[in-house]
Amino acid sequence: MITENLKQKAIKAMSHSYSPYSTKQVGAALRLSNGKEFSGCNVENSSFGATVCAERVAIWKAISDEGPSIQIESIVVATDASPPWSPCGLCRQVINEFASQTCEVHLVNLKGEVESYTHQELLPHGFHPDALIKP
Ligand code: THU
Repeated sequence: MITENLKQKAIKAMSHSYSPYSTKQVGAALRLSNGKEFSGCNVENSSFGATVCAERVAIWKAISDEGPSIQIESIVVATDASPPWSPCGLCRQVINEFASQTCEVHLVNLKGEVESYTHQELLPHGFHPDALIKP
């Protein structure tokens, strides 16, 4: 479920973006199954490959505070784009790794547009960590 609070956290995180190369500010905010919320922004680098997306920054923050068993219940991605930006492939894979069964991904922009998906809709047939569990 998207809440106004989570949406505003994602929008606020946009203002912390370090994005001198793309000039695109991205914010993300997520709520875990335990109710705790974390946000992140994109952090670019002059060595472009070292750039980290807003979604992964929020997820790294959640793991570093809460530990590796986090379950993402809902994640909001905020940009100034229309239609609102959707997570890149790398972020979809990382969301998949830490998603709850019913994880929702909400894409929002400053015009108030909202698009909502399940994480499986954004990464159908995705590779899942269960595949590495030995019988
Ligand atoms: N970006 C994100 O933060 N999240 C995405 O899912 C897509 C792309 C950032 C990375 C880079 O700083 C800028 O947007 C342009 O690609």
